[in-house]
Amino acid sequence: MNVKRVLVTGGAGFIGTHLSRRLLREGYQVTVLDNFLPQVHGDCRELAVDLRGKVELRIGDVRDKAVFHEALLDKDIVVHLAAETGTGQSMYEPVRYEQVNIGGTALLLDFITNNPKSAISKMVVASSRSIYGEGKYRCDAHGDVYPDARGVEELKRGEFEPKCPVCGSACSVMATDETSAIHPSSLYGITKQVQEQMVLMYGQSLGMPAYALRYQNVYGPGQSLNNPYTGILAIFSNLARHGKKINVFEDGLESRDFVYVEDVVEATMRCIAPSSQGVDFFNVGSGVPTSVLELTQEINEFFGGKSAVEISGDFRVGDIRHNFADLTKIRRELGFEPQWRFADGVKEFLKSATSGNEISQSYTASLDEMKKAGLYFESGK
Ligand SMILES: NC(=O)c1ccc[n+]([C@@H]2O[C@H](COP(=O)([O-])OP(=O)(O)OC[C@H]3O[C@@H](n4cnc5c(N)ncnc54)[C@H](O)[C@@H]3O)[C@@H](O)[C@H]2O)c1
Repeated sequence: MNVKRVLVTGGAGFIGTHLSRRLLREGYQVTVLDNFLPQVHGDCRELAVDLRGKVELRIGDVRDKAVFHEALLDKDIVVHLAAETGTGQSMYEPVRYEQVNIGGTALLLDFITNNPKSAISKMVVASSRSIYGEGKYRCDAHGDVYPDARGVEELKRGEFEPKCPVCGSACSVMATDETSAIHPSSLYGITKQVQEQMVLMYGQSLGMPAYALRYQNVYGPGQSLNNPYTGILAIFSNLARHGKKINVFEDGLESRDFVYVEDVVEATMRCIAPSSQGVDFFNVGSGVPTSVLELTQEINEFFGGKSAVEISGDFRVGDIRHNFADLTKIRRELGFEPQWRFADGVKEFLKSATSGNEISQSYTASLDEMKKAGLYFESGK
């Protein structure tokens, strides 16, 4: 078999680093295009030590047509991970999010359609669970329903659970499958929806295999500890390590589907594999909801329970209440089965999380920015 050449955009990032390792192990030739966004990488402009010299590194921006197109030359497969990733931040930096996430994807498609030298024969794009906004719920009277983003006034009253959009009564959260309504509640989610639609539509039109992977909350070793806009695990683990107070928003019962990075890599590899020749989209998660309070307790205990945990009732506009993945489709189509339980994965992450002392300060600064933009509310203020 000819060695396949893969371009991983955003390959210096969290998921990209784990994916690049696995691609190398499986005999692929890997090139990374990454601009080393300071918000993610701090001052570092190098790949993980074990990848240096094994992966071709191109430092550059996916908004730069010449640089991106040059990196795409002579590649067989592109895995497009480069993106701005902060849900809250996207709400007050819409132009940057639109330009990087949507604009970058447009440049990828421009290369594939307009460059006669393109050898790209497959595209894989990182989508997100955020395209679902609030996921699927069940109302006793109205069956499956998709609540809209929660309003500021109801959140101020401490009414955190989404209501049936038809009758306004209580409804219960369900696993979100791929046929669930797409209705993002952040600009980030909108950019992910559009990225996914762009790649899949071009895949269909060109007869080229293309996959969009709707990752849930990915965690694991190597996750950026510098980025105050993403990764509650990274933020809380820094606070817990230093015994600082942990402010749990809402009532702590909001939940997420935390999926270990090696499981995400496995799902992605199954799309990269030569046997995958379709145009399709999949949920990638653990399939299990974990509340933010459970997660906080797990982290705090790991570091000796030094932090006071305050369930504050604070909230951020655009945050969803619950979402967890229905994995029926990816199990059936790709034979994917998550291998990591949260209790095990979180320990691996916490063992590795040794740096990032600055985060609690930059996290507070990020909340200040959201407050200024009218997107963060402190309870009782
Ligand atoms: N981590 C998660 O929980 C999660 C969940 C859903 C979807 N995703 C998606 O998966 C992908 C990878 O996420 P991650 O967690 O590895 O994030 P990450 O921030 O660790 O990695 C993203 C990488 O992209 C690079 N990048 C950002 N803007 C760029 C630009 N303009 N040009 C070139 N490179 C740029 C960054 O420097 C970084 O190395 C993203 O598309 C993200 O939206 C992640």
